[in-house]
Amino acid sequence: MSPARHAIAVASGKGGVGKSTVALNLALALRDQDARVGVLDADFYGPDIPLMVNLKRDTSLKRWDFWRGGEVRLEPVERYGLKLMSVGFLLGEQQSLPFSAMSLVMALRQFLGGTNWGELDYLVIDLPPGTADLQEQVTQVLQLSGAVIVVGPQDAAHLDAKRVVELFRLRHVRVLGGVENMSGLVCPHCGETIEVFPRVSDERSLWSLGVRRLATLPLDPTVVGNGHGPLLVAAPESAQAERFRALARDVGAALES
Ligand SMILES: Nc1ncnc2c1ncn2[C@@H]1O[C@H](COP(=O)(O)OP(=O)(O)O)[C@@H](O)[C@H]1O
Ligand SMILES: [Mg+2]
Repeated sequence: MSPARHAIAVASGKGGVGKSTVALNLALALRDQDARVGVLDADFYGPDIPLMVNLKRDTSLKRWDFWRGGEVRLEPVERYGLKLMSVGFLLGEQQSLPFSAMSLVMALRQFLGGTNWGELDYLVIDLPPGTADLQEQVTQVLQLSGAVIVVGPQDAAHLDAKRVVELFRLRHVRVLGGVENMSGLVCPHCGETIEVFPRVSDERSLWSLGVRRLATLPLDPTVVGNGHGPLLVAAPESAQAERFRALARDVGAALES
């Protein structure tokens, strides 16, 4: 089952490395190639996509029907030309999801199969960090065309990312490559790059597994957003936005090859 020509998982070993940022901006950059793009926020315990697109709960969604299960069709929320679905649209901002791992897997199936995605070229799936049930299940529930692994420059981020690579490889999901995010900070005064985190050694890095480095993204205050939406919307002319467009071109080309 796949609602899109290509379903791409964005995954990481650690949280906070920029998965959601990469997923959303990658989706926007794919949209700029005139593709029809959906984003599924599968980070059920930390659904950040609504916040990142400045949207809160959408009361028009049939929440209670959804929780009761059954044949519910959910309308995706349209924003910036993307079709978005997130449990964050169903929950209040401070409401948490009291779901066990098993219910999460059911929710994942609901969101994938029960959303009116329409015809999509790409579905970008923002996964929770780690290698638990949900990451495992996503490889079972739908045919993934590939996975993009997001990693920070530090040793620990690479170490955990390698576990994610192994999970995908065991499940015969193609690892398209890795994105190193938060990789240094370009000083706004002198233009020099400052290494903020101690860098992993080459032999312990994700790249030592033969994973392609798709993009290197420095820390950039414009990424965080200034209330004007995600980077590709708020600062489409920036160097960082161009890096995302290059990433989207590489991902698109890899999927067609
Ligand atoms: N390259 C970057 N420069 C500056 N801030 C960033 C960058 N990438 C991500 N961030 C910020 O770091 C935080 C964590 O990013 P997020 O995408 O939510 O990570 P994850 O989904 O992996 O938990 C967010 O506040 C985000 O805006
Ligand atoms: Mg996230």
